[in-house]
Amino acid sequence: MENTTLMQAYEEKIKRVLITEEEISAAIARAGKEIDAIYDGRPILLVGILKGSFVFMADVCRAVTVPCEVGFMCAKSYYEGTVSSGVVKITMDLQQDISNYHVVILEDIVDTGRTLSDIVKMLRLRNPLSLRVIALLDKPSRRLVDFRADTSLFTIPDHFVIGYGLDCAEQYRNLPYIAEYAEKEK
Ligand code: IMP
Repeated sequence: MENTTLMQAYEEKIKRVLITEEEISAAIARAGKEIDAIYDGRPILLVGILKGSFVFMADVCRAVTVPCEVGFMCAKSYYEGTVSSGVVKITMDLQQDISNYHVVILEDIVDTGRTLSDIVKMLRLRNPLSLRVIALLDKPSRRLVDFRADTSLFTIPDHFVIGYGLDCAEQYRNLPYIAEYAEKEK
């Protein structure tokens, strides 16, 4: 395929913008203030769940003023196209002993709830001083396990979304906004 055709095929999958850059940065500023108010000067460890949270983490860590360290875990949800297979694997763990930290988990999206439910169970066993979960997006209509983030910045309907860290087959993470992905008609 020629480059122009490839580019056209790529762009055609961006169906419509759901959440703009401006809406995202306003929500991140509010989340930063919320974290500052909750921890009130106590040091925190922000834990980003890769890969989807890398852009979110970069913005949230610059929106907080409390002393803060960052750490990452990598969780891989296996997908066939845009459909979750239900298999979650932790492929990279935190380096820190978290027993001396107030931990704030940052996740891109809560969909079935499986990933965060597993990660929260795992991290609680390591006795952090406290544990909170902030999700950028929440798709409550898709939940298969009982899980709620402490804070969700946006609640969205059951659309597969891309951009601002979220991918489809590893592409579109670099879009500065969140868009609905144009899936094939079922
Ligand atoms: P859960 O375990 O089903 O809650 O899914 C969590 C992971 O699935 C997220 O961290 C994403 O990586 C991925 N995911 C779920 N929904 C979407 C979506 O609409 N777009 C891109 N990735 C998604």
